[in-house]
Amino acid sequence: MNTTYDFGMIGLGVMGRNFILNVADNGYAAAGLDLDQAKVEALEQEGAGKAVKGTTDTAAFIGMLKPPRKIMLLVPAGSAVDQVIESLLPHLDEGDLIIDGGNSFFEDTNRRFEQLKAKGIQFMGVGVSGGAEGARRGPSIMPGGQEDAYQIIGPIFEAVAAEAKGEPCVAFLGQGAAGHYVKMVHNGIEYGLMQLLAEAYDILKNAAGLSNEQLHETFKKWNEGALESFLVEITSKIFAKADDQGDGWLIDKILDKAKQKGTGKWTSQNAMDLGIPVPTIDAAVTLRGISALKTERQKLAPHYTRAIEQVPTIDQERLVNQVGEALHFAFLITYAQGMHLLAEAAEEYEFGLDLQTVAKIWRGGCIIRAEILEDMRQAYADQPALRNLLLSPIFQAPLRYGQHAMRSVLQTAMQHGLPTLALSSTLHYFDAFRDARLPLNLVQAQRDFFGSHTYERVDREGAFHTEWE
Ligand code: 6PG
Repeated sequence: MNTTYDFGMIGLGVMGRNFILNVADNGYAAAGLDLDQAKVEALEQEGAGKAVKGTTDTAAFIGMLKPPRKIMLLVPAGSAVDQVIESLLPHLDEGDLIIDGGNSFFEDTNRRFEQLKAKGIQFMGVGVSGGAEGARRGPSIMPGGQEDAYQIIGPIFEAVAAEAKGEPCVAFLGQGAAGHYVKMVHNGIEYGLMQLLAEAYDILKNAAGLSNEQLHETFKKWNEGALESFLVEITSKIFAKADDQGDGWLIDKILDKAKQKGTGKWTSQNAMDLGIPVPTIDAAVTLRGISALKTERQKLAPHYTRAIEQVPTIDQERLVNQVGEALHFAFLITYAQGMHLLAEAAEEYEFGLDLQTVAKIWRGGCIIRAEILEDMRQAYADQPALRNLLLSPIFQAPLRYGQHAMRSVLQTAMQHGLPTLALSSTLHYFDAFRDARLPLNLVQAQRDFFGSHTYERVDREGAFHTEWE
């Protein structure tokens, strides 16, 4: 039996294929398994001349791998993962390692971990971000599970991962489902940032009157400053793409319905469970939902005009600058929400997560990579127990400054009747967070009024109840 391959990949779609080619480029022999012969052929074609081999036969695939076998799955999250694991089990030996590299729900990862542990098989849930290009040239990798299992696969991951500031964008993150949890929150933040950019686009186009060429230039310039990030970069490129099937720009021909596979929704749901507010991620999930209601929106649109007030004349240049500053403020707050959730989850689920490490491995390779993450890494380096980034002195100046631009931008958006649920959620979150006395004393009074739920007082200890009538 030929046992010469260091690494095995199951699922040879574009992500799996690119990941394998990346592994081979870094000096490791890699075998791939897919039931679809065409995908195996595509791998072998692209991998010609490299230490890469593909097959459709599970037993042959297993036979090619060096023990302890390192087998990564890049298959759609859900039942496909369980099916693949089932199909592997009869062929595996104790100590072999299965790595789920998809966007699996973290509770499924916990279940699979326990299931496989009972059979002596090691299991890791690993987030991989960066899309097809990232898989090929260097993704950000978020591994969780048992640290001794990471020792087996760590060198390969460190070789293939992206680099940022001279460090690989991968590190062992923590116990159990830590890797998939971190990837889930990464995607929640991704949803938030994407929605913020969409709302900024709406304001720039429909209030400031920017053309697609001007939008391209604006986002390009922003990507050279404080907003430097992958999502701002691709946004600028999107506006420059001509329609290859007709006249004009492609962006204007794309249907305004955004789909979703669930990771953003899971982030919101789990944040609710843990009692950590992530309103910008909630807003992003909500807007994907409203975008899907196209038929209803089309029925409603003729009945209401967009502008609800006399709109004052716009100073285009000023508004564009303010939108840039507002976006910087909003980006910061969105990361702060996601990181706060990670801080809470790290305790609740005993992940043993270090937030500085998370900020570090997100600086390159992943979809939410951004210059701003270096400041976040620094904030956690200065204060390892920091619960929320808003509490770090590093962000006081940009927040104090950015809030003014945001207030002004939101006024303009509202005068134009443009929806800004995500942008405004960042300001409301900030305004509530920095307020030492919120009006929720009234809510507590109401609870006591109708349900005798009691309340605390500001001037003495204890629980109080009042007969209100
Ligand atoms: C990444 C992306 C990737 C995928 C998202 C898309 O980090 O590379 O997040 O995982 O593109 O899952 O999610 P939706 O289909 O839900 O938008």
